[in-house]
Amino acid sequence: MKNLRLWQACAAILLLVGSGLANATSIEFSTSVRSDTFARVLFQFSDSTGNLSGNIDDNIKTQLKNATAVYDFKGEHNSQLKLVTPADGDTLQVLVMGLGDPEKLDRADAVALGGNIAQMFTHKDVQKIDVVVKGIQARLDQNVLAAHIAQGISLGSYRFNRYRQEVSAPNNDYRIIIESDKEAKRHYEKLRAIENGVFLARDMVNTNAAEMNPVAFIDEAQKALKGLDVEIDVFSAEQIKAMNMGLLYAVGQGSAPGARLMVAHYKGSNDKPIALVGKGITFDTGGYNIKTHESIARMKGDMAGAAAVLGAVRTLAEQKAKVNVIAVMPLAANMVSETALLPGDIITSMSGKSVEIINTDAEGRLIMADAMWHVQEQYHPQILVNIATLTGSKIRAVGDRYAGLFSDDEQLIAQLSAAGEAVNEPLWRLPLAYGDMLQSTLADTTNTGSDGPGASTAAMFLKQFVQEQTRWAHLDIAGNESVTKTKNEIPAGGVGYGVRLLVEWLSTLQ
Ligand code: BES
Ligand code: MN
Ligand code: ZN
Repeated sequence: MKNLRLWQACAAILLLVGSGLANATSIEFSTSVRSDTFARVLFQFSDSTGNLSGNIDDNIKTQLKNATAVYDFKGEHNSQLKLVTPADGDTLQVLVMGLGDPEKLDRADAVALGGNIAQMFTHKDVQKIDVVVKGIQARLDQNVLAAHIAQGISLGSYRFNRYRQEVSAPNNDYRIIIESDKEAKRHYEKLRAIENGVFLARDMVNTNAAEMNPVAFIDEAQKALKGLDVEIDVFSAEQIKAMNMGLLYAVGQGSAPGARLMVAHYKGSNDKPIALVGKGITFDTGGYNIKTHESIARMKGDMAGAAAVLGAVRTLAEQKAKVNVIAVMPLAANMVSETALLPGDIITSMSGKSVEIINTDAEGRLIMADAMWHVQEQYHPQILVNIATLTGSKIRAVGDRYAGLFSDDEQLIAQLSAAGEAVNEPLWRLPLAYGDMLQSTLADTTNTGSDGPGASTAAMFLKQFVQEQTRWAHLDIAGNESVTKTKNEIPAGGVGYGVRLLVEWLSTLQ
């Protein structure tokens, strides 16, 4: 028991030091409840067996039975029953959460459930909360269920406090009650690594763009990968130019630090590598085609793709996963200045293809194209997956509860879609078509189509930089990178979108 507490304390401290920020919530696993808690959370399925997790004393049992009748509580998914306990009880309140159908409860539900619990206890004082998973009979293994509820609590308890006067809640003391605490803890250790990746990506998205320019991004990334078995390469603006990455260089040329390219390689197996390319626009003003809508304020999150691939590699390295994965992060600030890229400029990409810049606000695809080409030339990956906050068109098509998925590879489509479902980051397939809209009068291609299917023409632009032998998929996560409303495991602000999805997908490939 002592060891577990020690481990928890160390993990919490590491987490705090690692991010410089707070997720002060602590979570431990144990086989027994505590006597002086603020709340005890129980679970019940809607299978009418009256099957309730936990053993509770008789006086509460009667009260609970009455409350169940009075409120007509049936254990439906997302329903709850709250009970203030008699004065002599060992907890101030009992909260019963409905789980719905025991056959349908999956890992994503468990994480959401944990997130929901996190959002229910947000008092500024530390509260002791026992969550009783013991006794639940579901399709999902009980230890896996407990570990995923813990992950939901942890992800949902994240708050970004760097720019606040006062540190905001929650910061509770959770204990998950389970039949075998060792097994649950073992499962949770892997999930912890995922949380660290998600928190890293969230921190980066939430940080002011001026403090997260390409140079700062690389500093933070290097700090985050320290001590892990990851090989890092960084290329300066001059090197980028010398390597003929004309597009990446051009997007960076309007900002003081200029462009950078960071490559982080975690070689956990001898398989042919899998490359993940993430868009790293540290701020997107639009350039000379300047953004006029107030949504420009969210453009500090335009590096969410780069943050996601970084978070994924950090996670896989911490887990010592048996995958060979390369995160590629093209970085630039898309600014307006005397030296900035101009509309009408024709720029030659690393692949040799020339691009007529019709609109400087279609910058993400430009930096992605050179990064994609570089990683294919250098590492010959078997699979290449892009992740980018690429188009407003994608938001208009599928909103911000789905990410857009583009690929011609049915197997990749199926794998990535399944991974998305498993972690509450669902994907929706969109047409990889309309490439004819990219015809240029003076160059090999333009960088924008003529309205209509903007997410598709962006994807078709990228497809021009995929080599014959490379299996490829592109994820458009515009709108997914940050949210204004807290919901379950996702607090308002940076989401860390894509970390869980990519880790899940790569884990199923092992
Ligand atoms: N970073 C934006 C896309 C975006 C929009 C991300 C909203 C997150 C929320 C991207 O660089 C962009 O500006 N795309 C343009 C392309 C257009 C000029 C062809 C767009 O979608 O409007
Ligand atoms: Mn843009
Ligand atoms: Zn952008």
